[in-house]
Amino acid sequence: MALTESIVKEAAERFGTPLYLYDFDALEERVEALQAAAGPRFTLAYAVKANPSLAVLSFLEGRGLSADVASAGELEAARRAGFPPHKLVSTGPSKCDRDLEALVREGILQIHVEGSDELQVLDSIAAREKKIVTAGLRINPPWGIAEKRTIIGGPGAKKFGFDLESAALELESRDELGHVVIEGFQVFNASNVLDAGLLSENAEHVVELAAELSERFDVFVATIDFGGGLGVPYSDDESPLDLAALSAGLARVARRVASHARLAEARLIFEPGRFLVAPVGLYVTKVLGTKRCMGMNYALVDGGIHHMVRPVLLGTPHRARVVGDPGRERVPVGIAGPLCTSLDVLHPETLLPEPRRGDLIAFENAGAYGYTESMPLFLSHEWAAEVGYRQGRLESLRRPPRVSEILDAQRMPFD
Ligand SMILES: Cc1ncc(COP(=O)(O)O)c(C=O)c1O
Repeated sequence: MALTESIVKEAAERFGTPLYLYDFDALEERVEALQAAAGPRFTLAYAVKANPSLAVLSFLEGRGLSADVASAGELEAARRAGFPPHKLVSTGPSKCDRDLEALVREGILQIHVEGSDELQVLDSIAAREKKIVTAGLRINPPWGIAEKRTIIGGPGAKKFGFDLESAALELESRDELGHVVIEGFQVFNASNVLDAGLLSENAEHVVELAAELSERFDVFVATIDFGGGLGVPYSDDESPLDLAALSAGLARVARRVASHARLAEARLIFEPGRFLVAPVGLYVTKVLGTKRCMGMNYALVDGGIHHMVRPVLLGTPHRARVVGDPGRERVPVGIAGPLCTSLDVLHPETLLPEPRRGDLIAFENAGAYGYTESMPLFLSHEWAAEVGYRQGRLESLRRPPRVSEILDAQRMPFD
């Protein structure tokens, strides 16, 4: 049974609003579709940051995915959800010592290093832990895919990875590392890409770069990692990623790798986040009141950018709908939340059946960079619930901390 509007209403009644609702049947379909498109030659390592719900992680682990973690906290989440260390990779700029220590102790498959100091610290931590660590260099090449909205950065200077000159220096002097073996490369330079041709061309360039660096510096290449970047449409004028075209492009990439003696054994990794989870999530709010101000209609809802900051952070409204279309005349509406700032607008203007108090308004594509990419402390409203739907069943996934519990954790030492 698919997730219907009446199930969304039932979830709102049972668990209250605002809430995040994830459709695990749809998640399963997306995983299977992407696994089929990528083919057996590619490892899919789910980017935990997109949605670190333990229920999501364990579901994906159960379907054979690996995972990419960006911190000690994400590592703990992935391990609790059942991912074994050998199915984990890690990338993240500005990793602190605690992050690196945790990654070294767990003995994950590969740590992608993003800078020279990080490499030195990793080496000394590995020495202290008496371990040999396999690392990949994250490379920021001079080429890349231009992003529609800056998330990772596209081509050019950015905080991520080594430029080619600095990578060359590290590779030349790598014998000085006592406990880190560099045996892989990662390039992730653009996010939310909807053009399958650009994604596979980019992957081909990454393969050529890995081959070039491997030859020039005599590096054994155990992994080539293409990061994330598989996009989803947020607005009506965007089309979904063409998985058939992606599949054909990736088959070309796999053939190129197979034909290259130095790369033939390399594990090829994609780290999809958004593509898998964004479309399976709804952020469901309730209309508390409506008003008209200087000719503009507003629906004031019980949720806001404290739970879903992405629309204002990136200037990308998520498609919104009144749950169970009440069949009223459609009017232009701005949808705004309870925070005392004009930034708290979940949608600046969209056409909706004229909303009324008590209606539910659901925001689509909320499964990625939603619940966690938010600022729930601002104005001390209660946190949103997280609920899962699977084969006719609705289940609570998380008991959000109550505001009173967060207050309990504070002290007032200065009278
Ligand atoms: C290293 C890394 N891998 C994968 C991802 C996931 O990207 P996406 O959600 O675009 O698939 C990110 C996102 O920022 C990332 O930083």
